[in-house]
Amino acid sequence: MRAICKVTVVGAGNVGATCANVLAVNEVANEVCLIDIKEGFAEGKAMDIMQTAQLMGFDTVVEGVTNDYSKTADSDVVIITSGLPRKPGMTREELIGVNAGIVKSVCDQVLTYSPNAILIVVSNPMDTMAYLTLHALGLPRNRVIGMGGALDSARFKYNLSKALKCNANDVDGFVIGGHGDTTMIPLTSFATYKGISVREFLSAEEIEEVVKATMVGGATLTGLLGTSAWMAPGAAAASVAEAIIKDQKKMIPCSAALEGEYGMKDITIGVPCIIGKNGIEKILELNLSKEEDAKLRESEAAVRKTTAILKELNVL
Ligand code: 2OP
Repeated sequence: MRAICKVTVVGAGNVGATCANVLAVNEVANEVCLIDIKEGFAEGKAMDIMQTAQLMGFDTVVEGVTNDYSKTADSDVVIITSGLPRKPGMTREELIGVNAGIVKSVCDQVLTYSPNAILIVVSNPMDTMAYLTLHALGLPRNRVIGMGGALDSARFKYNLSKALKCNANDVDGFVIGGHGDTTMIPLTSFATYKGISVREFLSAEEIEEVVKATMVGGATLTGLLGTSAWMAPGAAAASVAEAIIKDQKKMIPCSAALEGEYGMKDITIGVPCIIGKNGIEKILELNLSKEEDAKLRESEAAVRKTTAILKELNVL
């Protein structure tokens, strides 16, 4: 790892700008390049963030750039948030046509200037966009990470902490499967409160409510906000970048290309990953119950269906 760490965030919309802000406030990298296609937009967001530097006490330098990818050169990590967000009532899958074209052209330009970067994909439908990134660029699987599971797991822990009426940091749990309202699988059997199964504290009905709230977490916020959420998505992407840059070897559920794990191949889908300086360094294979495994198969089928559209659209 170079002494100077640089992260590029592509897309200065709500998610991208929030992500850049979290990266700066937490001093995850020395330099953050925020790039957007809209003239002056990234520059404005970067300036706004930089005007908080002495208020928040951070030394990271955030630079805003309009569409000049040469400024992203030598990034260690590139976070791709470009594309349209969801509108109320829309599924993430409905965005595929527009976002596939955007993500593909962004990725080509990113790799021209940062051929060794690790890519974190945020754009929706996230599992499919991660698949597209990996295959369009022909990268090894450790270098393309879909961030959905990090976000969904944060929402799962938030919902668990509300049900348990406890501090969110005392709760552990994670979500696997696709990053979709019907495809994600909050693994309640692995969820704990200070190491004790949440089943000791919550009834089956209460746990079911937590699962439901988690699965529609993004849609609930889209309904309330009129567009996709950005605070937790931005922070989730930044947390994956931090695990890479600091070589944290953290277990983060991410969308990863499977090569036989969980009996799947030729798919990117959410599974528990160890994230460190090489990106996805390991995929953990859990002993799932019959019911959990059946849910993962359903999720697999749904993710495959969306991903197959890439071929119909001729983007892959
Ligand atoms: C969400 O779930 C944007 O997909 C993102 O909020």
